Amino acid sequence: MIDFRGVTKEYPNGTVALRDVSLHIAPREFVFVVGASGAGKSTFLKLLLHEELPTAGSVRVGRFELNSLTRRQIPFYRRQLGVVFQDFRLIGNMDVYDNIAFAMRVVGAREKLIRERVDYLLRLVGLPHKAHSRPNELSGGEQQRVAIARALANNPDLVIADEPTGNIDPRMSQELVDLFVRLNEAGTTVLMVTHAHDLVRHYNKRIIILQDGEVVADGGLKPSAQTGGVQQAVSPAARRVAGDTQTWSVSAVAAAPPYYAAISQQTRYR
Ligand SMILES: Nc1ncnc2c1ncn2[C@@H]1O[C@H](COP(=O)(O)OP(=O)(O)O)[C@@H](O)[C@H]1O
Ligand SMILES: [Mg+2]
Repeated sequence: MIDFRGVTKEYPNGTVALRDVSLHIAPREFVFVVGASGAGKSTFLKLLLHEELPTAGSVRVGRFELNSLTRRQIPFYRRQLGVVFQDFRLIGNMDVYDNIAFAMRVVGAREKLIRERVDYLLRLVGLPHKAHSRPNELSGGEQQRVAIARALANNPDLVIADEPTGNIDPRMSQELVDLFVRLNEAGTTVLMVTHAHDLVRHYNKRIIILQDGEVVADGGLKPSAQTGGVQQAVSPAARRVAGDTQTWSVSAVAAAPPYYAAISQQTRYR
């Protein structure tokens, strides 16, 4: 599904946001991407969205080689992606129904199909009764569920979310991640950047940890980290990751790549 080969991204001002990143994400995987602010998470997503091009290396998504995507291919490429942002990015003067329908109208879907699909998506995200509300009449969690429904409007193979729970209270956050998990179980590949480390810990999914533009850990949780009982030995590199604003610790066990990251938290989320 996704292949990064030796990807380096240097911005024009000389900042190297990603350095020699190689990784593979298979279809139907669910992956969390975590790391401190400035680690390169958004740059990683921007490369996937074809908003930025790598300085070196290649990015392939499905059948698309992003370095050599033609102008004509770009809309077809983007159509297979669903994107969810931290700040929802709903259109304020459209109601919920039209926010979702809009994503289908721009690709020329028929109104009958749009009606069926929007009804289905509103039920999926639990908001059929809010179809004719405006975004500013909804809570943050509800707005983000609308944004997820919109991201799914054209039935994407891949859903990318950049800090989707960043503006949402903890209890709703878990429901949102549960929603992403259900989507994933139905066959959609999900890539979620998050700072909500206890959420990451709650789910037994692949975790990619970025630090200073490099992948410092990539793997699943150790069982001890999931139950939270045992404090892992923490490597110096991981401790720097743990120095992030929220208190957590990561243990990158370098036994055999891919590294297994163990995450445990010292603070309760709620
Ligand atoms: N457009 C840009 N121009 C220059 N530097 C940038 C740009 N975007 C991000 N950066 C820098 O690249 C690094 C990684 O940023 P980013 O990918 O946004 O990290 P994250 O999302 O993990 O916080 C940071 O040092 C950031 O300041
Ligand atoms: Mg970011």
